[in-house]
Amino acid sequence: MNTIETNNPTPQTLQNKSLLLNAKGISHNFDYPLFDNIDLALHKSETIAIIGASGCGKSTLLNILSSLLIPNHGEVFYENTNICTLSQKKLLELRRNIFGIIFQAHYLFRGFSATENLQIAEFLSGNTIDKDLLKRLKIDHILHQGIGELSGGQQQRLSIARILTKKPKIIFADEPTGNLDKTTAKEVMDVLFEYVAYEKAGMILVTHEEDLAFLCDKVYKINDLKLERVK
Ligand SMILES: Nc1ncnc2c1ncn2[C@@H]1O[C@H](COP(=O)(O)OP(=O)(O)O)[C@@H](O)[C@H]1O
Ligand SMILES: [Mg+2]
Repeated sequence: MNTIETNNPTPQTLQNKSLLLNAKGISHNFDYPLFDNIDLALHKSETIAIIGASGCGKSTLLNILSSLLIPNHGEVFYENTNICTLSQKKLLELRRNIFGIIFQAHYLFRGFSATENLQIAEFLSGNTIDKDLLKRLKIDHILHQGIGELSGGQQQRLSIARILTKKPKIIFADEPTGNLDKTTAKEVMDVLFEYVAYEKAGMILVTHEEDLAFLCDKVYKINDLKLERVK
């Protein structure tokens, strides 16, 4: 039971040091309304899953929460910053240094090797790659290979390694294990959970796979334009 936190936090609760992301009164529609007046709060060390049928707006909501899309109504705060009104320059900084966004389709530099892709992340973030992370993602043996020589699953794990090298404060993951087999998917999720716990980061996972979703601390379902708490 969720007793302490309120589902409808006022801006004052942003004083709450453990609050990472706070979405308030989010409404959005494309051809038809997707959600109406949704609130969602993410705290440090917390993992949240959002589930729902295909087309219900999971990716749209994640795009709003991760600064990629401005909602029709409502605001999203990262700590005390309203990310819906940030300048383009500040948004890029936020996405480069603070948010780690993992999509199902991986954005790697083709024509470069796996190692070179990781070195780019090292260079941009000033962090070094955690060799142990590469072992746990089972990609330590493919580093010399070109991106085109890797399987879809290997590419996905490499892109996750690249994102974790940035040490993001919040991971936003949209069907991150969509092209992995069940065992590998679970292993990759475990790496993400360990990362969140160790770094006191937060994660919002969007998936249609309920068994993966229920590994998270909280689960919400998009239902009838609202977010319904199901765990
Ligand atoms: N950029 C867009 N322009 C217009 N319609 C969109 C756009 N993005 C998504 N949609 C529509 O919004 C609905 C929800 O899409 P999406 O958020 O991708 O759902 P989900 O991730 O739950 O499958 C779909 O009907 C989709 O076609
Ligand atoms: Mg989607």
